[in-house]
Amino acid sequence: MARFLMITATSGTNLELANTFASTATEKGHDAEIIDLAEMDLPMFTIARTEDPEQVPDISDLVDTMMQADAWIVIAPEYNGSIPPTLNNALAWLSRDWKSFQTLCTGKPVGLATHSGGGGAHVIMAMRQQFSYLGADVMGRVCQSGRDKEANPETIDAMIDNLAR
Ligand SMILES: Cc1cc2nc3c(=O)[nH]c(=O)nc-3n(C[C@H](O)[C@H](O)[C@H](O)COP(=O)(O)O)c2cc1C
Repeated sequence: MARFLMITATSGTNLELANTFASTATEKGHDAEIIDLAEMDLPMFTIARTEDPEQVPDISDLVDTMMQADAWIVIAPEYNGSIPPTLNNALAWLSRDWKSFQTLCTGKPVGLATHSGGGGAHVIMAMRQQFSYLGADVMGRVCQSGRDKEANPETIDAMIDNLAR
């Protein structure tokens, strides 16, 4: 049994996709939790904010949940050919403690998924580059869906099975 964390960048179709991943994982006997970064609504990361303790958000629960998970599935829509701001912003706050963040990411099995207006190929490429840079073990197979394409249940199944190994 593995402990999955689905990290969704937005609360619409991508949260729906996160729910599908989570229910597939639990049907297979795994644990699954979802974090919705849009719902979390972190303040925008700026250096000025990092220098004012009153403006630094408490992300310790987020860090703990990420740490406890055996694998992450990051689910985000494509925005302007890249990563949406909620995800980018969360990564910036997480990386303030760079050494621990690097330790947290190194070797972590990560699956990527998107529901975008088009196919979401650009956000998948951007997330692959981002999470590989952070040291994660990013899975080759991805789940892409969009206006004209449903998420493939076989892909979701295979991603869960392979990430749980
Ligand atoms: C600011 C913005 C930029 C977008 N840029 C793209 C894009 O470059 N490529 C694309 O396929 N869809 C783009 N979209 C569409 C979103 O990917 C699509 O609506 C997605 O389903 C939104 O996810 P959600 O339903 O979880 O909020 C954009 C949407 C917004 C709001």
